[in-house]
Amino acid sequence: MAIQFTRNGRKAMLWAQVEAMRRGDLYVEPEHLLLGLLHGEDTGALRLLDKMNLAGYQVRDCAQATLGPESAGTRVETSQLSPSAKKAVEQARRETEATGDDYVGTEHLMLAILRGISDGIEPRPGLREKLNALGLVYERAAIAIQGVTPELPSLSDEPSPVMTAAPVLRPRPSFLKGRDFLSVSDLANDEIRALFELTREFKMGRTPDAGRGKTLALLFEKPSLRTRVTMTVAMNRLGGNVVYLGPEEVGMGKREAVADMARCLSRWVDAVAIRTFADSIIREFADASSAPVINSLTDREHPCQALADYYTILESRSETAGMKLVFVGDGNNVAHSLMLLAPRMGTHFTLACPKGYEPDPNILSEARELAKLYGTNFDISHDPLVAADDADILYTDTWTSMGQEAEAAKRRADFAGFQVNDELLREAKEDVLVLHCLPAHRGEEITDSVADSPYSGIFDQAENRLHIQQALLAAIL
Ligand code: CP
Ligand code: NVA
Repeated sequence: MAIQFTRNGRKAMLWAQVEAMRRGDLYVEPEHLLLGLLHGEDTGALRLLDKMNLAGYQVRDCAQATLGPESAGTRVETSQLSPSAKKAVEQARRETEATGDDYVGTEHLMLAILRGISDGIEPRPGLREKLNALGLVYERAAIAIQGVTPELPSLSDEPSPVMTAAPVLRPRPSFLKGRDFLSVSDLANDEIRALFELTREFKMGRTPDAGRGKTLALLFEKPSLRTRVTMTVAMNRLGGNVVYLGPEEVGMGKREAVADMARCLSRWVDAVAIRTFADSIIREFADASSAPVINSLTDREHPCQALADYYTILESRSETAGMKLVFVGDGNNVAHSLMLLAPRMGTHFTLACPKGYEPDPNILSEARELAKLYGTNFDISHDPLVAADDADILYTDTWTSMGQEAEAAKRRADFAGFQVNDELLREAKEDVLVLHCLPAHRGEEITDSVADSPYSGIFDQAENRLHIQQALLAAIL
């Protein structure tokens, strides 16, 4: 009988596919497999790395550096295993014989990839040297695996475990040091949990000085109240400074090339938070910047917002698994980040939007893949009353995002009927939590009666932007 994968092993294979899709790669290569192995929590692969005194992010950096940046544009619907990835999977089965296990866990996959690399199977140059420099080589890993507690061979089709509010070990300081944060998908589940833990500590008043002597540049091509102020206050609380450059000063790609701005700024400052239009701009900047870059909103995503939202939900509910989150409105940047995060939090996600306002197709396919992976529901509906049925969380945002002002009148007409009001609230659960990223257009996407009701958590959300970003900055700096 063919040896089977553990649940973590199957998850890692699916994550590898998502990693390939996000880069627009037709084939899943060993590098994607390596990235897939780093997504879990307390998996055999991570325990193996730990045994070798390595952290997941160090390996992620190596794989990402050889794969290159994610593509903001073209994506592929599904990716198949490349010949070298197939060999790695076959090798993983053989590694189980050596360890005496009768299933393929993530630790065996990790070992198999390292074996392939040491045998010269390396589709992209540079990975071998990078892993060697970390001391991550087959021979050492083959010894270390002997002391690794194996994964449970959970072979049933039960849904994958999701993040919970359960406490995690105190995160190591600077556990995301130097990392960009451009999408919610840039953080692994255990990193998000660690960030939530750090957020809780900051909210309770912990004041480490991770930012002392450091400067954060805010490069904002769109207006902001919450993001600008919370980033500034967070950095000040960490003992650091902020330089703000607004739309008049920035002119990215107009006054000078995006990459040149990145090269200059990253020689002066320690991190850059960017609010801009196309996602390709922030990615171009991040590629040229030696300082880490934080997405403070693009047309594609608003990842800091989604982290604060889920932190707020966890504060209110203690648990997110099995909840139904209904986003009523445009399939926009805020909806994108939420739909990518929801499955990983075990949340069922429904978007209620008018026809023609569906999410970006690439995000949509990634969100559907993730929902499959985590066993959650993912729906798009054009009927808000039906969508809101039994909702635990009702979320809304402006009908007209920054940059779409010319379409405001048409959008107001198209979104009529997609208002979060008392009638919609009656369809949801009795203790529904109403969220809005703000700024709100009261009387359009939300009524005063709902925004100011006891169901509303919108100002807790706004407050939590501060705490989550303080944690994020402390971890990245
Ligand atoms: N929610 C949010 O990002 O608000 P600002 O646009 O005011 O920063
Ligand atoms: N979707 C909105 C979010 C504002 C925080 C926009 O992009 O304008």
